[in-house]
Amino acid sequence: MNNLKTQILTDDEIGIKSAAQIIKQGGIVAFPTETVYGLGANAFDSDACLKIYKAKNRAADNPLIVHISQISQLPELVKDIPKKAQILAEKFWGGPLTLIMKKSEKVPSTVTCGMDTVAVRLPRHPTAKRLIELAGVPIAAPSANLSGSPSPVTAQHCINDLTGRADAIINGDDCDCGVESTILLMTAEPPVLLRPGLVTVEEIEEAIGEIRIDKAVLNPLSDGRAVLSPGLKYKHYSPKARVITVEGESVDYINYVNKNADNDTLALCFENERDKIKSKAIAYGKENDGKSQAHGLFSALRLADEMGAQTVFAHCPDSHGAGLAVMNRLLRAAGFEKIKV
Ligand code: TXA
Ligand code: MG
Repeated sequence: MNNLKTQILTDDEIGIKSAAQIIKQGGIVAFPTETVYGLGANAFDSDACLKIYKAKNRAADNPLIVHISQISQLPELVKDIPKKAQILAEKFWGGPLTLIMKKSEKVPSTVTCGMDTVAVRLPRHPTAKRLIELAGVPIAAPSANLSGSPSPVTAQHCINDLTGRADAIINGDDCDCGVESTILLMTAEPPVLLRPGLVTVEEIEEAIGEIRIDKAVLNPLSDGRAVLSPGLKYKHYSPKARVITVEGESVDYINYVNKNADNDTLALCFENERDKIKSKAIAYGKENDGKSQAHGLFSALRLADEMGAQTVFAHCPDSHGAGLAVMNRLLRAAGFEKIKV
């Protein structure tokens, strides 16, 4: 399915209205959110949601996140709202937090892949919110990349991946956060972090007390272990190059790269390290600044491919705050290949 005529729409009221019309008619549209671009369809239209899986080559057992524009849309999607979910929704929505709850009858199984839970998020990006409002329905949307490649954080990334595959792409600004939302499973007690994002563990625990961090956040899945989130099974965020994460102090990282790099390698480093690296290097953010690293990471991974790098030496960040999200994406891009220096 790559023969659609993909409209490029302006990120203004006229463009968003056209996008909403396409969604109402059962089409699929890429749109900006504060995290990454999403590829959306009417969440209540099973056939429309199926088109998303086809367009992305997404595995049929990897469920979609349902996006809403107001908390008042939540009750029709879920069986009940756990107290802690209510607290988190009030505190962090609109924003980069997805909450998984027991699904209502109304959510089709094409969205949830037959699971009895549904993931819901209320974004803060004005375009995403306006699109949902004008469409008049919740919008099911995974990230707007081809499955397996890094999530799109610019309209150009969507154009590269989805031309001929989506009905339209809203040509919006680059995404603020740069990594996907934090995902919390609220049907467990304590709730379980399935994917770290820019709403941090520290912030969540301050609001609702202790949570559990799923092992798969920082470790490869061991065979036979039950998977809480189907998406965790798939190698994500992956550029074509072999990515190796390098853990250690700046000076040791720089020494390692300068010793081991050749013409086909690329260093994915922090800003202060760039000039000290003798081979090809891209800075993906500031040291000790998880937010800036998150913002630059996926563009840097895509650039690594455009530059034809065979091997990427990525300097691994600290795992606290937003750094946990960056570390998680890097480890998955590397298929958990890491070295300590
Ligand atoms: O920031 C984001 O969350 C972006 C923007 C577009 O909102 N969306 C996004 O969607 O990252 P996606 O599909 O790329 O990632 C959603 C993840 C997948 O790993 C999926 O398996 C998991 O959420 N998921 C969805 N529904 C679930 C459920 N009911 N139970 C467990 N995991 C679920
Ligand atoms: Mg994705």
